[in-house]
Amino acid sequence: MERFSKIKQELAHYDQEQVLAFWEELSEQEQHHLLDDIERVNLAEISIISRKLLSNHSPERNNIRGVPYDKLEDFTETQLHRYKERGLELIRRGRVAVVLLAGGQGTRLGHEGPKGTFDIGLPGHESLFELQAKALLKLCKKTGCRIPWYIMTSPANDWDTKDFFKKHGYFGFYPDDIMFFLQDTVPTLNSAGKLMLKTKSSLSRSPNGNGGVFPALKSSGALDDMEQRGVKWLFQYNVDNAMIKLADPVFVGYAEEKDSPIATKSASKRNPEEKVGVFCLIEGRPAVIEYSELTKEESGNPEMMNAHISIHLFKLDFVKAVADQPMPYHLASKAIPTLDERGEEVKPSEPNGYKLEQFYFDLFPEAESIAVLQVPREKEFAPVKNKSGEDSAETARAMILSNANQDQIRYRLGGEGL
Ligand code: UTP
Repeated sequence: MERFSKIKQELAHYDQEQVLAFWEELSEQEQHHLLDDIERVNLAEISIISRKLLSNHSPERNNIRGVPYDKLEDFTETQLHRYKERGLELIRRGRVAVVLLAGGQGTRLGHEGPKGTFDIGLPGHESLFELQAKALLKLCKKTGCRIPWYIMTSPANDWDTKDFFKKHGYFGFYPDDIMFFLQDTVPTLNSAGKLMLKTKSSLSRSPNGNGGVFPALKSSGALDDMEQRGVKWLFQYNVDNAMIKLADPVFVGYAEEKDSPIATKSASKRNPEEKVGVFCLIEGRPAVIEYSELTKEESGNPEMMNAHISIHLFKLDFVKAVADQPMPYHLASKAIPTLDERGEEVKPSEPNGYKLEQFYFDLFPEAESIAVLQVPREKEFAPVKNKSGEDSAETARAMILSNANQDQIRYRLGGEGL
């Protein structure tokens, strides 16, 4: 078979022949499936990426400074009122869309199903999706407008996510105002930089990171849809922030007044060692450095204490301009199900390889400026990442209930802005 020998040769050239280990055992259909799968991979690119990343090469960074920022706590009542009214007006005029990143695999949480279907144990046992839907609907009622909600999924959770929404009647949303869009996937690599098998006839692939969002918004037609609706700002957030203030009007008004291509919320870093990405300016351009890529000096730099908490407003024009820009890959060390030499499935509990991830914030330097609003973490940021301990359902629940007690209401998410 000419196709097979060509692919085999190419695999040999890049030292990736291990993916054919079970070739002889496959049916003709499975063989075709595997060849299709391999052909989708740019072997030259994978080879460059794995060599570069596995060599622990750290990028040269010069001229780093802290980013200028405002503190929500410092705003006067008059300012807060002005921002809020301006934000509400923009929402009312249909200028704000909401983008949810829900394509992740949530490996640390270990919940069966998409993370948004997870019940964090509040008295009403709402899932994360339901909490968010209710908050958005509340804002729709308040402003008398329909807010479009774009939800990014990945192949592993797309069906389950859509099914969950359907089963719950879209939580009262007009189905036309919810658009699911699919992010791309990339092959995973073992610790030696080799492609991994998921089954004998398919490669192991994983979602291409949160950076998959802009290209996927474009290729799915979501950006065109926003344009037709007259959207100006995209409010983007993570599915696992149980205290997200959805389309927070104060933040919208603040972004509009600052008029930068990107507005972002940040939280003060708890301590120099905290494992969070930080905002900064590199050569005068906005940037985020992931915690794993911070040098010791950068971690201890008192100017760089604005933690990245994944809450942003992007101008639609900015997203359109950068959606096709190439982005670098980062390595995430993970426990990846694969096959052993005998072809038996293995589900490791410890990391055995890497997922390749792109980060949307690698495109931040494309913006000439960024507006950073530092907010009190205990009121806006309750990430549900782990099964227990830090950043778990338990910590998120405690934060929500403590805020609810302070506000003397049951519990609420988003929509209002403080
Ligand atoms: P995390 O970086 O916490 O990853 O995602 P994760 O996949 O949810 O969880 P772990 O690391 O496997 O435990 C932060 C946000 O980015 C989204 C997630 O759904 C979450 O909202 N995300 C992450 C994507 O949408 N796609 C990705 O490829 C990765």
